[in-house]
Amino acid sequence: MSDLVTIILAAGKGTRMKSKLPKVLHKAAGKAMLQHVIDAAREAGADRNIVVTGFGGEMVREAMGEQAGVEYVTQAEQLGTGHAVLQAKEKLEGVRGTVMVLCGDTPLLTGSLLKNLYEAHREAKAKATVLTAIMPDATGYGRIIRGEDDSVLKIVEHKDASEEERQVKEVNSGIYCFDIEAMFGALSKVTNDNAQGEYYLPDVLEILRGEGEKIWAVAADDYESTLGINSRQQLAGAEKILRRRKNEQLMAEGVTLMDPDTTYVDFDVQVGRDTVIYPLTWLEAGTVIGEECEIGPSVRFQNVKCGNKVVGQFCYAHDCQIDDGVALGQFNHIRPDSHLSEGVKMGNFVEVKNSNVGKGSKLPHLSYIGDCDMGSGVNMGCGTITVNYDGKTKFRTVIGNDAFVGCNSNLVAPVTVEDGAYIGAGSTITKTVPEGTLAIARARQKNIEGWLDKRK
Ligand code: UD1
Ligand code: MG
Repeated sequence: MSDLVTIILAAGKGTRMKSKLPKVLHKAAGKAMLQHVIDAAREAGADRNIVVTGFGGEMVREAMGEQAGVEYVTQAEQLGTGHAVLQAKEKLEGVRGTVMVLCGDTPLLTGSLLKNLYEAHREAKAKATVLTAIMPDATGYGRIIRGEDDSVLKIVEHKDASEEERQVKEVNSGIYCFDIEAMFGALSKVTNDNAQGEYYLPDVLEILRGEGEKIWAVAADDYESTLGINSRQQLAGAEKILRRRKNEQLMAEGVTLMDPDTTYVDFDVQVGRDTVIYPLTWLEAGTVIGEECEIGPSVRFQNVKCGNKVVGQFCYAHDCQIDDGVALGQFNHIRPDSHLSEGVKMGNFVEVKNSNVGKGSKLPHLSYIGDCDMGSGVNMGCGTITVNYDGKTKFRTVIGNDAFVGCNSNLVAPVTVEDGAYIGAGSTITKTVPEGTLAIARARQKNIEGWLDKRK
């Protein structure tokens, strides 16, 4: 299907969003609306996608980053959808075949819907095919005006429509397939003689029909997938639909969701089979969860790579790696660049930052582990802290395998605790603790006999 190219219209300001951010960059289910559209286009077989930007164009390019098969053109002034498409003319000079025109603010589109449209367009051997939808409330949309033989005559914008035309419930979704040459030919004849003073892309259909060309329409099965987002209210609606779809997909793949209504999984998250997700859990962009995990209730993972059989509830982890069989504790905060190795056991109120925790090590209660390289089989006593910051610079703490750190110890970095070393409770360690030794760094206890009698 390599002859399919898309033009994605994304130059509008999106005034009703009341935002500094260009509309198409607003996210739904953790992914920019424009990215949803590009991904659907790719799924339908388009490997060349031309995005028309205008308002906040630089921001759009920057946020989207370099992507294979995505190019940009600029529409300096927003003179209408027809004018927007014309900006891609130079890029498509000499290219033959089909162009699909999409809008950047329709995050609910699916690859299969676009593929069906493309195939119907090819089969019909039409010069233009419009995707239509039956809208419960057609206000604001262009109406599909059909002739007595049911063929499409033209599309009339809401503002230009007569009372009778406004009764039509079949609307233009704003998604079309065109023969590239025919489309640009007709676009050069489109005028802005209408209620909005804009160059309307849909006018191309009437022009082509007038030239005796075949124009065609395909109706979407459900209007939901074609919905364009213009306001925050509509964005929230789209979010709900996308999350529902994602949850349904996960369940179909063998993931148990205790309560899909309170489980928020971003679109690109992967979850393995037989994992159980408890309520009030957020799994956000970049997260991968293995098999047979028990996640939640009340877990928020952002870009967490998580192995199999991981258990965690009431905790927050981001930009980190959690290996097989790790048990997180309540109220853990696992911060960026941390790696919890296989079988690590975490307890209540533990924070880990930019640290490696070796296999089977235990951090059972109330610890702060920052900038630390910890070996395997280590036991960190309750309340132990790596003192990693002197107010200016961060230093690392190194802890060898099988070390035992007594409760309420401070490990003042840079410092090393070697393999098998022991640290007495309440110590403040500032020097290397050699292999196999016991370090005690606290004031000795003194008992003062008769003290109470003297006080009297
Ligand atoms: C358009 C269609 C209408 C259809 C509706 C579906 C026209 C004239 N009308 O109306 O028939 O029912 O979409 O949602 O096409 N854009 C640009 N540059 C411009 C103008 C628009 O890039 O100069 C972009 C917008 O950012 C948006 C898309 O084109 O992504 C559609 O524009 P919009 O103004 O929302 O058109 P509608 O009035 O909704
Ligand atoms: Mg619109």
